[in-house]
Amino acid sequence: MIIVPGTSNEPLAFKLASALGARLARIEARRFPDGERYFRILDDVRGEDVVLLQSAALNPDEYLVEFLLAADAVKDLGAERLIGVLAYFPYARQDERFKPGEAVSLVTVLKLIRSVGVDHLITVDAHRHRVLDMESVLGVPHTDVSAMPLLARYAVASGLVDGERSVIIGPDAEAEQWAALAAHELGVEHSSLRKVRLGDREVEVETTRGIDVKGMDVLVVDDIISTGGTIREAYRLLRGLGAKRVVVGVTHALLVDNALAKILEEGVDDVFSTDTVPNPTTRVSVASALADGVRRALS
Ligand code: R5P
Repeated sequence: MIIVPGTSNEPLAFKLASALGARLARIEARRFPDGERYFRILDDVRGEDVVLLQSAALNPDEYLVEFLLAADAVKDLGAERLIGVLAYFPYARQDERFKPGEAVSLVTVLKLIRSVGVDHLITVDAHRHRVLDMESVLGVPHTDVSAMPLLARYAVASGLVDGERSVIIGPDAEAEQWAALAAHELGVEHSSLRKVRLGDREVEVETTRGIDVKGMDVLVVDDIISTGGTIREAYRLLRGLGAKRVVVGVTHALLVDNALAKILEEGVDDVFSTDTVPNPTTRVSVASALADGVRRALS
């Protein structure tokens, strides 16, 4: 098996290769003077199972195009099977036509991935709010691995939350799924809040019935922190409800608009995230979860 690293996250590709005992392909990636991308795989992939790893966050256009170029090349060069890993799956938020005339970017991206011959797509906690079944659009198998068990274990092992007197909260209805996974890992209760999005950067978060966080350590989990608005609002609410400690664990910390400083200024006790998007809060690697996903995909 050979791992072909995209340029978005070479450290994660290296860790994945090491977790799988696979070779890391040498690549040449650069830009032409006009801005177009060039991608070359320097090792022979003919007859091999190839895992192409990209994490298309923060610079989604560039990384997505590079992924498509690399995938098409891998298949054209005679690879046996191509496992495409998009550790951060881009363009997933526009998963529906909310207003007439809008492009539905999730569907467009899935069609593009299908067109370059990916045999199996692996993502990590892909943002799936309305389209839960990406496979039906993709036309090939899709595995979404979750970082939630890893994040939950990290929170307890590092003493950030008490493994018994803690509760896991998702900041919105969609995050209920992440909270359930983390809570299952720790054997504690979970719940979710209700969020109303007022704009790209503004949200309102309300409590739902039956949430009791008084005197508890709260681990807030979510797939993404972007501007941090969701987490700040959730924090205010949970503190108001008497939470003793509020720590935040997310899979993809994009942290735009100085989000981390704003979250910490608000009073959140700690923020940690995975290495799908390397950033100052990265403390957990998803390499082992991805390696399991790759093994399952190839079995
Ligand atoms: C969307 O609902 C996601 O699950 C996150 O909650 C959202 O992307 C966070 O965005 P922000 O940090 O800008 O509030």
